[in-house]
Amino acid sequence: MTANKVPEPAIHVRGLEKSYKEVRVLRGVDFEVARGSIFALLGSNGAGKTTVVKILATLLKADAGTARVDGFDVATQPADVRESISLTGQFAAVDAILTGRENLVLVARLRHLKDPGRIADDLLERFSLTDAGTRKVSAYSGGMRRRLDIAMSLIGDPPVIFLDEPTTGLDPQGRVEVWQAVKELTGRGTTVLLTTQYLDEAEQLADRIAILHQGRILVNGTLAELKRLLPPAKAEYVEKQPTLEDVFLALVGTNA
Ligand SMILES: Nc1ncnc2c1ncn2[C@@H]1O[C@H](COP(=O)(O)OP(=O)(O)OP(=O)(O)O)[C@@H](O)[C@H]1O
Ligand SMILES: [Mg+2]
Repeated sequence: MTANKVPEPAIHVRGLEKSYKEVRVLRGVDFEVARGSIFALLGSNGAGKTTVVKILATLLKADAGTARVDGFDVATQPADVRESISLTGQFAAVDAILTGRENLVLVARLRHLKDPGRIADDLLERFSLTDAGTRKVSAYSGGMRRRLDIAMSLIGDPPVIFLDEPTTGLDPQGRVEVWQAVKELTGRGTTVLLTTQYLDEAEQLADRIAILHQGRILVNGTLAELKRLLPPAKAEYVEKQPTLEDVFLALVGTNA
């Protein structure tokens, strides 16, 4: 291999364009994700979030632009990219007739890793599923399934993880459980790109937030930076800070 891994950033996207027939979904998307950080790609339904993730995960080819993941070009080094990533979609990939532990052991075996049982037990513990590990997944709550799904995506320690709408369809408790699981990933050097329609999710989890709108990244910054885009609304005695929702609606419009 001639390609040396570049240390920074984990994800580098420039001028990404993609159309489905005459529908121009991505019209020049640029962003970077630093290693070991959580980056939230925020956007309304149909904004193109999944399209970006699919291109980065080498499942879809861009029409124009470049994207590098873990130092590898998605167009010319797709096999290297695939070795560096895991992708968790909206629908859990776990097998419901197996137990949580059996699912983990199965994936570890498929990846030819040593000691699949220990890998499974470690992950069950990290995601607070030890007690549930011996139960069939069909008996799990939505939040538990999604946590198991994220645990499965960590087998083999991929440096970059894509979570496409990790909490869509979950109840508030399930969402909190998944948030805890995602927070667990940082501090271990894993880079996470997550897509979400939920502003509070981006607020909770992300080091940086980018809003994808009409085919481009409208804004990209920390939560504090995004909030500074709007002046605080002045009341007579109280100064109200804008929420991310205020910023989003001001930029994207209330009909988005
Ligand atoms: N295979 C396809 N063929 C044609 N159009 C597509 C295809 N996949 C996506 N689209 C269209 O491209 C646009 C972006 O879709 P995408 O799934 O990337 O959006 P999204 O931001 O992930 O939306 P959501 O929040 O609903 O998941 C939408 O208008 C969608 O209808
Ligand atoms: Mg989507």
